[in-house]
Amino acid sequence: MAITYFERERVFRLDTPHTTYLLGLVDQEGFLGQIYYGPRLPEGETLRALLRLEERPVPPSADPRERASFYDSFPFAYPAHGGGDFRTPCLSVQTAGGGCNCELFYESHCISAGKPPLEGLPAAYGGKDGCATLEITCADPALGLRVHLRYTVFSDSDAICQSALVENGGEEPIVLTAALSACLHLDDMDFDCITLPGSWAREREIVRRRLVKGRTGAESLRGISSHQANPFLALCEHTATQERGRAYGMAFVYSGNFLAQAELDQYGKVRSVMGIHPEGFGWQLLPGERFQTPEAVLVCSDEGLGGMSRAFHDLFRTHLIRGQAKRRPALLNSWEACYFDFDHDKLLELGRQAAASGIELLVVDDGWFGHRNDETTSLGDWTVNEEKLPGGLVRLGEELGAMGVSLGLWVEPEMISPDSDLYRAHPDYAMAIPGRVPTLARNQYVLDLTRKEVRDCVYEQIAAVLREAPITYVKWDMNRPLIDVYSPSLPPERQGEVYHRYVLGLYEMQERLVTDFPEILLENCCSGGGRFDAGMLYYSPQIWTSDNAEAMDRLAIQEATALVYPYSAMGAHVACCPSHTNGRVTPFLTRGGAALPGCFGYELDLGELTEEERSQIPLQLAEYRMFGPVFREGDYYRLASFRDNGYYDALMAVTKDRSLAVVDYTQVRSRANLRSLRLPLRGLEETARYRCQGSGEVRTGAGWMLGGALLEAVQADFYNQLVVLERID
Ligand code: GLA
Repeated sequence: MAITYFERERVFRLDTPHTTYLLGLVDQEGFLGQIYYGPRLPEGETLRALLRLEERPVPPSADPRERASFYDSFPFAYPAHGGGDFRTPCLSVQTAGGGCNCELFYESHCISAGKPPLEGLPAAYGGKDGCATLEITCADPALGLRVHLRYTVFSDSDAICQSALVENGGEEPIVLTAALSACLHLDDMDFDCITLPGSWAREREIVRRRLVKGRTGAESLRGISSHQANPFLALCEHTATQERGRAYGMAFVYSGNFLAQAELDQYGKVRSVMGIHPEGFGWQLLPGERFQTPEAVLVCSDEGLGGMSRAFHDLFRTHLIRGQAKRRPALLNSWEACYFDFDHDKLLELGRQAAASGIELLVVDDGWFGHRNDETTSLGDWTVNEEKLPGGLVRLGEELGAMGVSLGLWVEPEMISPDSDLYRAHPDYAMAIPGRVPTLARNQYVLDLTRKEVRDCVYEQIAAVLREAPITYVKWDMNRPLIDVYSPSLPPERQGEVYHRYVLGLYEMQERLVTDFPEILLENCCSGGGRFDAGMLYYSPQIWTSDNAEAMDRLAIQEATALVYPYSAMGAHVACCPSHTNGRVTPFLTRGGAALPGCFGYELDLGELTEEERSQIPLQLAEYRMFGPVFREGDYYRLASFRDNGYYDALMAVTKDRSLAVVDYTQVRSRANLRSLRLPLRGLEETARYRCQGSGEVRTGAGWMLGGALLEAVQADFYNQLVVLERID
């Protein structure tokens, strides 16, 4: 890892262990352009010629009449709207006089060890020895506007973090109508673009399409990162596979509206941007005020999509997720087991069953507070329903504790039911636009988290419950999009700030929670996986992946999620059968195999299982305790995708020291007249020898990788098997 400024060439060079990123200055004017991002270059290489300053259109100083065409093609590191750059900008402004042009010129730079935190925002972190930051300050003298661009590289990660801090140094207010976080310029390499669109219970499908002229990408305008889109975009060579070819990835450390866009321009060059969606955004900067964009993470790999995923996983696990090392107990969640229909005795019975099977944590999901027996009431009233739970959560927690089972709790702090004491006392706490009837979704309104008194009111109620009862785990849910986006606490000219201020309010609440209750394991959730993003991972090491816990659908959802996020981040449960989301019937063991690599649990009434199924739980738990850490902390390899081949799914994890490897194989559909399948493995030490548990077969790592493991073709659908290899020398 290093950041170097080459004075003579006026080039900034950022090196990660395997990649190089180059920025260059155009003499005189001080335009800042991006020269290169790709595999690591030899020492001292600056590739300045790639700025193409000798080509027409030459820079404006040499031929002022050519300014327009220069703007139209130059790879601006942080493009601003105006001046003649017609591609998507990162920065757009509106001045007090109504103008909207902005031009940024280099002013100064500074290279420092470490990485400053982003105030109020989730962001990657690292110590002074482990990372370095380049800050380049650009300015528009006509506006008195300054932009501080930050780039951080890490010694142990092939990722680059980018963000921008915009400062109004002028004398007039300025409105930022777009302030994105990162920009990437590439010459087209016959790219495919990959995004992860989806829907509720079908979150994150992998969509890969050819990058053609024009704009494409992903976006959310729902106030959350959403089920429908994920704040991620990849560009890979059209021929790239899991293990081969160039792949670039951009992920956004943010949980609200976003734009992730790739644009192939008239000259066959790509501009890819990532940031807060400009639609619905307008941030007023008074003289002296600053706006900090969230952070985007860029990775580049020449080891295909697998290399890209591993780079993201490593960065997120070691530099973003703060609770990564926390124990991930196997849990039993009450939701699919009984929905709202429970009382103290029922929960105690679930606890007894959990204890008998060796499950460590019972999570009491929705329905424990106010008088909530269905979706219509009580959000906002975070007091225990003593009719259902006499003695409250204290008694329940103590009685469970006596059985060796700890207590977890569901909350939905961002919401308010019209039928709640909170709404009756403070109807203005719900977001609504004056003069309009607010839109209900799931019978609830969204709280105005831009207001401190609203956040405090809900936080204090929930904190009181957590202080009183012995709670070790919290599931923070959020079950509807933002629609009536308006806050009476802000003047008309600041209403464009509400979406982002909402997200800042959410982050403030979660920061309080993890600070006040450091022992609690936090799991985020958003009607399933509607907010599965890197921003949330800063607060909670795990996120509920989808309300669709049916094993076969889950394999695909988890595969797509793992393109960016580590398995350690995915809540994964053995759920009811037939599935409550798609009706599919799958064997109990296979459901366990699909959930194994994630943060494992059960979401069903153990009392309704057959004796045989119940007897399989201790085996599943033993496998989770033995192999869970390999999936959560090791290197991930996607060996096969059911989406592609139509028959089977296989993923593999290898410990960082390459001493233990586990393959999680699922035959989704059986095939007639097939005896066995040869599955080439990955990630092993070539010359070391590995023994396969079970068969006892010993081969070199190369033997397993080139020869492949032989898997029996079983005459059954939905069959799961683990292959475990231990290094013996
Ligand atoms: C959401 C969550 C579920 C469950 C319900 C409770 O849908 O994703 O897991 O907690 O809310 O209302």
